Amino acid sequence: MTADELRTKYVEFFVSKGHVQIQGKSLLPDNDPTVLFTTAGMHPLVPYLLGEEHPAGKRLVDYQKCIRTGDIDSVGDTSHLTFFEMLGNWSLGDYFKEGAIEMSFEFLTSPKWLNIPPEKLGVTVFEGDDAVPRDEESATVWKKMGIPVNRLAYLPRADNWWGPAGSTGPCGPDSEMFYYVGEAPCGPECKPGCSCGKWLEIWNDVFMQYNKNAAGEYVPLTRTCVDTGMGIERTVTILNGKQSVYDTEIFAPIRGAVEKAANYVYGSDSEKDKSVRIICDHLRASTFIIGDPKAVSPSNVGAGYVLRRLIRRAVRHGRKLGIIGQSQQGEAPFLPPIAEVLIEQMKGPYPELLENRARIIEELNREEQKFLETLQKGEHEFEKLLPNLLKDPRKIMPGRLAFKLYDTYGFPIELTEELAAENGMKVNRQEFDEAFKKHQELSRAGSEQVFKGGLQDHGETTTKYHTATHLLHQALRTVLGEHIAQKGSNITAERMRFDFAHPSAMSQEEIKKVEDIVNEQIQKDLPVSMEVMELDAAKASGAIALFGEKYESQVRVYTIGLPDVFFSKEVCGGPHVERTGILGKFKIQKEQSSSAGVRRIRAVLG
Ligand code: ALA
Repeated sequence: MTADELRTKYVEFFVSKGHVQIQGKSLLPDNDPTVLFTTAGMHPLVPYLLGEEHPAGKRLVDYQKCIRTGDIDSVGDTSHLTFFEMLGNWSLGDYFKEGAIEMSFEFLTSPKWLNIPPEKLGVTVFEGDDAVPRDEESATVWKKMGIPVNRLAYLPRADNWWGPAGSTGPCGPDSEMFYYVGEAPCGPECKPGCSCGKWLEIWNDVFMQYNKNAAGEYVPLTRTCVDTGMGIERTVTILNGKQSVYDTEIFAPIRGAVEKAANYVYGSDSEKDKSVRIICDHLRASTFIIGDPKAVSPSNVGAGYVLRRLIRRAVRHGRKLGIIGQSQQGEAPFLPPIAEVLIEQMKGPYPELLENRARIIEELNREEQKFLETLQKGEHEFEKLLPNLLKDPRKIMPGRLAFKLYDTYGFPIELTEELAAENGMKVNRQEFDEAFKKHQELSRAGSEQVFKGGLQDHGETTTKYHTATHLLHQALRTVLGEHIAQKGSNITAERMRFDFAHPSAMSQEEIKKVEDIVNEQIQKDLPVSMEVMELDAAKASGAIALFGEKYESQVRVYTIGLPDVFFSKEVCGGPHVERTGILGKFKIQKEQSSSAGVRRIRAVLG
């Protein structure tokens, strides 16, 4: 079973059960500042799981690209991935536990679908606690499906509870499905979910019953929903009896490209194997992040920073494998040609990779080169320190100097250690770690600062700012011209940021005009209305749709003003305020360049 086959079968099965296939969304979540990336298939569906109506109906199915960074530095083992694809089906107030479990069981075991022998399956359900009762309902359905009691385990909240995806949102007890790869139980206590390594999780049915709010309270949802998630890479690995995702056809093309570039055969050296895995994983994640319609570039903040770390870590391992950075001559970067292989492989399910191919190659090229320069500079600085370092009879390089190389030049500690070792020295790692920790605490405090004020996913202030972005977007088009296209937006409870394509800086006059227009619309207290329409009809009616964004065929259109004399009309998922009058006074604080050809406005509502 290949990834393509699994993706197709899954969608086909759920469509045959009355689900509508929807498009997966961007890797960068809309207006959810509690996370940097889309971490699960349900993430883009949060508003609908919380009660909004979805234009495509109550039963949905899709595949969604996801990124979970956790601690990037621990990726490299044989199973963890930062980028992965998740298959999911949803019931928005339609079927619940019984329907979800029956369909999961049929898809897993029916010869027409995955054809897994039922005796290979085990399941877990929520054992209950003070707040939420034991999930006997799910257990009863599983037993009805033929799952024997010794293949059914009740586990606590730590195992059988899912969500929210960020720090607030829908969540609930779940039921997980496992594939058993053992011959015999590891002991009398061995049951699904046991950590003996023989129970491999393949699917999770989450029963969304609560909304965790910003105060940390679990508020029951008036309409219960089902959210399920099946990781494609993991399932393909298990169904093909492989030991590791990196041994599947999913990784074969890029792993092959890395092996070829390194002139190395995977499986011959465990350290080198790890480097190959890191390059494969990080290159996949980086390619998808840059190739996303929301176009992230490497930078020192947010998602751009994660991207930078992914690329640089891949380059470091490319050096370790001897692919790059061994000579001082200008070498061609090694990541872009491997990205080409990946784009070719994934362009079917993810056409945005092909559309954004040039950007992907260019950004990878630039960042790899930049990092190699950083490395050269770091090496040069190390050489300058060397004569003094060699005077130390204990042959220990002070940790604070290693930290300075890291902090000032971005020179990785592992490379300082390598250079030190080449000169018969050791780095005082403890001192380095202490300095590093202090630095991390400072930057963590900094990023918490950014989110202070607690932007709740769809809180009142966020919603006001969201409506204000529509007013701003239209005002910019009125003042600067119809070419203005939104490139991104970011909202916290304190301010909004709006990026748009425009070749030059705005004059003070233009800024003032835009501000006045927005404030005029606020004073008019215009109504905001929403209707669901066909995408083409929406465009024909004058609605702005974001270029490069993927939409369903049925979309939500928000109109500010009266239907025939509206001020703004945009295709958008919402939510928005009901009338503009409550927005307060709109003020542009800053207008600056964000990247080539893109301007950024920072504005507040007072
Ligand atoms: N949202 C659930 C998960 O990611 C299905 O496992």
